[in-house]
Amino acid sequence: MNEAQRLITEARNAAETSYSPYSRFRVGAVVVAADGIEYRGCNVENAAYGASICAEANAISTAAANGVREIHTVAVTCLDGEGCTPCGNCRQIMREFGVQRVILTNEDGTPVEYALEDLLPHSFGPEDLGQ
Ligand code: THU
Repeated sequence: MNEAQRLITEARNAAETSYSPYSRFRVGAVVVAADGIEYRGCNVENAAYGASICAEANAISTAAANGVREIHTVAVTCLDGEGCTPCGNCRQIMREFGVQRVILTNEDGTPVEYALEDLLPHSFGPEDLGQ
């Protein structure tokens, strides 16, 4: 099993903890921080639908809450559909912490890698505010 496959397996494990009683669409994400430590997240829905949290946002927020400020890789998968791709808001959240590599899955679960630059071209980020 290569690294991408291992991260997708971890993302799948994270998706098992999804709280998604409304959509029944379980998503899991794993982020790899610059120091190699990995953080997981799942989607957490809410009766006020708009208060729901995506798996990627959850994993990245968990990393940030542990002091992480640099993330190089994010792996995302879902258990109930034929592959899933991060929403626009999550692509922007990835942008904040320097994510470069995004590992998703195709219909048969095979990892497929993308550069964040290709998922979020011409993006706005910390540098635009002088950071
Ligand atoms: N969702 C994620 O967690 N990440 C994605 O990349 C796509 C969508 C969640 C949000 C909601 O809980 C459910 O999937 C259906 O939209």
